[in-house]
Amino acid sequence: MEIKIIKSVETYPLRIEILRKGIAKDFQFVGDDVATTFHLGAFMHDECIGILSCMKKEHALWNETHVYQLRGMAVKSDLQNSGVGKALIIESLKILKERDCKLVWCNARETAVGFYEKMNFKTIGSRFQIPKVGPHFVMVFTLE
Ligand SMILES: CC(C)(COP(=O)(O)OP(=O)(O)OC[C@H]1O[C@@H](n2cnc3c(N)ncnc32)[C@H](O)[C@@H]1OP(=O)(O)O)[C@@H](O)C(=O)NCCC(=O)NCCS
Repeated sequence: MEIKIIKSVETYPLRIEILRKGIAKDFQFVGDDVATTFHLGAFMHDECIGILSCMKKEHALWNETHVYQLRGMAVKSDLQNSGVGKALIIESLKILKERDCKLVWCNARETAVGFYEKMNFKTIGSRFQIPKVGPHFVMVFTLE
């Protein structure tokens, strides 16, 4: 498996397939193409099997300015639970550290909270709903 930086457009098929369940709606994010954003793709035999987007975005909960949000994390259904997501997170944290990022947060789907906990993210606050997507928790990881 190879992890590399990809263009936003290359994330769209998996966003639609995994995160929007085939509904080609709301799969483009504000900030997808700003200079500070980067997108990672996990590739196997030239096929993109996992994606993750990292966007410089402050959060009201923290005063830090070097703050990034993880978004649009998805792994192909038949390859979930085989280490692809973990490899994407590790690579993102390596790049974010190089960018002097101090804190990473995400709106984690309730079903994915256990995954982020394994990646040493901590849950902050209470469960909240994102319309049409479902229950989420804010989760955070502090870079040393
Ligand atoms: C959540 C997701 C990105 C995780 O990626 P993945 O490749 O399946 O995860 P990995 O195989 O790298 O798992 C790493 C560890 O987390 C665990 N894990 C994975 N998904 C989990 C989940 N949903 N709940 C609890 N633990 C989970 C794995 O068992 C593994 O544990 P181990 O290190 O003890 O073996 C992926 O399953 C996915 O795309 N899910 C559907 C879309 C989604 O929910 N995206 C996140 C939106 S916030």
